[in-house]
Amino acid sequence: SDVLLLNGPNLGILGRREPEIYGTDTLADIERAVAEEVAPRGWRVIARQHDCEGALIGAIQSSYDTVGAIVNPGALMIAGWSLRDALANYPRPWMEVHLSNVWARESFRHESVLAPLASGVIVGLGALGYRLAARALVSTVA
Ligand code: DQA
Repeated sequence: SDVLLLNGPNLGILGRREPEIYGTDTLADIERAVAEEVAPRGWRVIARQHDCEGALIGAIQSSYDTVGAIVNPGALMIAGWSLRDALANYPRPWMEVHLSNVWARESFRHESVLAPLASGVIVGLGALGYRLAARALVSTVA
């Protein structure tokens, strides 16, 4: 079985992107960490990062046979309505992750149009948040 790990715009440059906000772990580090967390259940990770909303939607549409997903939508949290509709049709549990504590930041980051559809949301715990989201899937997915 596979888990979809989906990262949105500007997350491919993690490690070099405002490290004081997003930390120094690269996306490759995060992908490895998630793979480590789900390996005991025999799951593998399909990791996709796209800067364009359409490509993220395509990744979701091609992943209906995964067991669950971890999604950091980046700024598409704010107004990614097409991404929201794609996630509404994703048949499995998924977790929304934000590295930074979005509520401690600018007010335009205080609402996610996606979060109401998520099984859970983890914010502000940096790269650890992805591990915790993976653990949540491991312990809640039937
Ligand atoms: C982010 C928070 C978003 O507001 C921002 O646009 C990002 C990263 C996070 O992981 O903290 O791109 O999703």
